[in-house]
Amino acid sequence: MGGVRRTMALVAVAMAALLLAAPSGEAAVTCTAVQWKLMPCVGFLTTTGGSPTAACCRGVRWLYGATKGSLKDRIAACSCIKSVSASIAGELNASNVDALPGLCDVHLSYSIGPSTDCSSERIMANIL
Ligand SMILES: *[C@@H]1O[C@H](CO)[C@@H](O)[C@H](O)[C@H]1NC(C)=O
Repeated sequence: MGGVRRTMALVAVAMAALLLAAPSGEAAVTCTAVQWKLMPCVGFLTTTGGSPTAACCRGVRWLYGATKGSLKDRIAACSCIKSVSASIAGELNASNVDALPGLCDVHLSYSIGPSTDCSSERIMANIL
């Protein structure tokens, strides 16, 4: 009897684990969300000097938090940023692009720019 009970309990735990794990099978971070969150950064990224706004840094921190646990999400976010920033590539200030995560106290394993290789080892490794 005890054995049956334990088996039932294990089945229940396994099912709960499956249910919890299900959403992470596909990228939880949508491109629309990434664009929306990083929109306030465009001003800083296309200017000379200045500093990112608080809204921009909130977006960058959100991005870090939303992608730190999942390689799939990092790749998805990276590809999204890459395609979006390609449309403003001519206006981007590369040094501001490089400096952005650090200025927001975040260490992304990828940069927010058009030349990022979204399949690179930096993406694969979660730096923090
Ligand atoms: C980019 O911005 C930096 C200051 O953040 C400035 O020194 C540099 O000249 C700018 N580069 C371009 C290409 O405008």
